[in-house]
Amino acid sequence: MKGTKFSYLLAVAAAALLLFSFPFAGAASAADAAVITLPAPDKSGGVPLMKALSERKSNRSFSEQVLSQQELSNLLWAAFGVNRQDGRRTVPTAKNSQQAAIYAATGTGVWRYDGAAHTLTKVLSRDTVKVFGGAPLTLVYAAPEGLYGAMHLGSIYQNVGLYCASAGLANVVKATGVDVLKNELKLPEGYKILIIQSVGKPK
Ligand SMILES: Cc1cc2nc3c(=O)[nH]c(=O)nc-3n(C[C@H](O)[C@H](O)[C@H](O)COP(=O)(O)O)c2cc1C
Repeated sequence: MKGTKFSYLLAVAAAALLLFSFPFAGAASAADAAVITLPAPDKSGGVPLMKALSERKSNRSFSEQVLSQQELSNLLWAAFGVNRQDGRRTVPTAKNSQQAAIYAATGTGVWRYDGAAHTLTKVLSRDTVKVFGGAPLTLVYAAPEGLYGAMHLGSIYQNVGLYCASAGLANVVKATGVDVLKNELKLPEGYKILIIQSVGKPK
């Protein structure tokens, strides 16, 4: 009986350790989880669109504080989530090709966002906070080379910029730093990293 109780306490302690060592606050998954199912995005909140547009700006100073899992969910859904029953997204894409890839680079690794499943899958274990200038989250955007791909990513980073304005988060779009993960990320065939966007709480 004593042994059972001890094992139970050990399991609880281990679960608590994993929970609090995770990079996104409030995440229930283990630190080494290969796939995180994000909570449903909160589509009811936010400031009115015209206010978000008024407040959209670049901010290059980030606190070390990580985003909550809900903020991350909202942000990625705004970026390129599914917003209709038929699987179409929050941004338009040429012939609904949906050609855009988003990687979330964080303190515990780089995660690929799957908008259809609203999940993150770990693709690299490397801590990327320092290499991206101290931002707790840097979105690395890839698309097929060419005009349409660049347009898709521009729509995505603007959605993220507006979400940040609405949620009081800092963000900056950057061309410098696009090569940081170039040789490590296995991109879809024909894709190229075109732009990045750092996000965090303002300092
Ligand atoms: C395609 C693109 C590339 C950018 N590259 C960088 C960059 O490498 N470094 C940086 O600090 N800001 C970069 N920015 C941010 C711009 O400097 C910023 O948007 C501009 O100064 C206007 O400021 P605002 O965003 O506050 O309106 C980039 C923005 C865009 C759209």
